Formats: sequence, structure tokens, C-alpha cells
Amino acid sequence: MSESIIQFKLNKPNKLVSLLSLPPLTLYVHFPWCTKKCPYCDFNSHAVPSNGSHQTNFDEALYLKALCADLEASLPLIWGRRIHAIFIGGGTPSLLSAAGLDQLLADIRARLPMDADIEITMEANPGSVEVQQFKAYQASGVNRLSLGIQSFNDQHLKALGRIHQADEARQAIRIAQETFLRVNIDLMYGLPEQTTQQAMQDLKEALSFETGHISLYHLTLEPNTLFASFPPPLPDEDTTFEMQEMLHQLLHHADYDRYEISAFAKKNQRCQHN
Ligand SMILES: C[S@@+](CC[C@H](N)C(=O)[O-])C[C@H]1O[C@@H](n2cnc3c(N)ncnc32)[C@H](O)[C@@H]1O
Ligand code: SF4
Repeated sequence: MSESIIQFKLNKPNKLVSLLSLPPLTLYVHFPWCTKKCPYCDFNSHAVPSNGSHQTNFDEALYLKALCADLEASLPLIWGRRIHAIFIGGGTPSLLSAAGLDQLLADIRARLPMDADIEITMEANPGSVEVQQFKAYQASGVNRLSLGIQSFNDQHLKALGRIHQADEARQAIRIAQETFLRVNIDLMYGLPEQTTQQAMQDLKEALSFETGHISLYHLTLEPNTLFASFPPPLPDEDTTFEMQEMLHQLLHHADYDRYEISAFAKKNQRCQHN
């Protein structure tokens, strides 16, 4: 019998009625802070400068309390529904302390029925990666890490206003692969003054790590961003189209299936949250 069938025994002998249960849910938790605001980003994210020891100026305890209150207020809408995936996105959730992340997952566990094999993804910025921190996140239950790599080219990382360099990106991927069962790499193409060759080189390097998932985004100029006000010199439409075609072919030949506009996964590696 399928898992999604529940049975109620009626008050009449030998009569069973089967009802379809509602499908499981995924839970998205937003973390709205970053070390620095990137000039192209229109996500709900706000800069909180780090003092260098992973401590930042946001009030973690207060935010965790607010998240809990928000979840409790939503519970009547989802009674009885199981949770099969959690996505902790941002912003930069890897600015959360190990204790803070552990508290967050404990608060969720205490309030929602979770599948035993639940997928728990967390987004991280390569500029805020520490080995011990990753190990602690994993011990708390995170089993999938999504890294905002964007490019392996220092010139392009600088043009994007990123806080990390290519070597930190490589190091972050290695640490993530040693720590988590599943890892995603976020890449962007159509970057300021980027050639097709350079975009291909970025993707080839990403593929060399053999992560099961790659998210490939075309850099877009979003309203109300610094890039929209002061546009950088982007490749023209024909070049970007050529890039996209070639990048998609490369992913296809490396056995990544495109299952969403910007999401590519190897077999059994799709993100449940997408
Ligand atoms: C919400 S961000 C979280 C990742 C993390 N904060 C970081 O940047 O390292 C998710 C991804 O969206 C993509 N993204 C953000 N702004 C974009 C834009 N204007 N155009 C294309 N992709 C964008 C980036 O690849 C980024 O890694
Ligand atoms: S680190 Fe990520 S979420 Fe934060 S501003 Fe940059 S792209 Fe946006």
C-alpha cells in the first residue's frame, strides 16, 4: 500500500474506507543578513559587517524567537502535514552560529512532524566558511549545502563585489564535500566583460568537483540594485545566448538533468525544495 494512503475503520464490521492524505510539505526559513550587500542582488538581505570572529551585529536570539513565533502562528494551517524538506536560505544563513542553527532545527523538530530521511539544505557564502562551523551544522542535521560560488575568476568575483576570492571558493567546496552528503554549487554567467571561453572555464571547474547539483543563473540587472543604477559592461545578447547554449550542452554531456529553469542535477540529486 502506498505511504500516502491512510485508513479509518468505520463503526461497521468489515468496512474500511481509504482516504488520500495531503502531500508532504517543504519548509523555507529565511535568514536576511549578509556580510556585505552584493551590487546585483535584490533578495531580502541586509549588510551586517563581521568583526572577523564570526560574530555579527544582528540579534540572533531575537531573530530565532521571531521565527518560532511565526512558525507557531502558521501551525493551524498545516495540521497533520509532514515535512520532507527544509531549506534555510538567505541572505547568508552560514552567518548563524552553530548553537543558533542547532536551536533553530530543535525548535522546528519540536513543532512539526518530519520525515526520517528529511532533506535539510542550508545556503552558505564561501567567505563565511569555517570547518568547525560546517561540522556543527552537519551534526545538527543539515545534510545538503548550497554554496554561492558564482565564478572561479578573481576578476569577475571582484566585479560582482563578492567577499571571497577563487581560492576560498575552491577551499569551501572541498570542506563542504568532506562534511555534507550533498553539495550544490551556484554559478552565474553573463558577468561583466565575461567571454564565452571564461564562462565555459568556470563551469568546467565547477564540474571537476563532481557535486551532484549545479544551479546556473544568468546574471540579471534587478530593479533597485546598484547594478541597475550603474550598469556594468555586460556581454551583449548574442554572446550571452551563445554562452547559455554552450553551458547547457556541457551540463547535459556531464549527465546533469535540467529539471528547473536554473537547476541541474545528477540522478537522485534533485533538491526537494525546488
Ligand atoms: C539568495 S542567494 C544565496 C547565496 C549566498 N547568499 C551567496 O550569495 O553566496 C542565491 C543565489 O542567487 C543567485 N543570484 C542572486 N542575485 C542574482 C542576480 N541578480 N542574477 C542572477 N543570479 C542571482 C546567486 O547565484 C546566489 O548564489
Ligand atoms: S551574499 Fe548572497 S544574498 Fe547576500 S547580497 Fe550577496 S548574493 Fe545576495
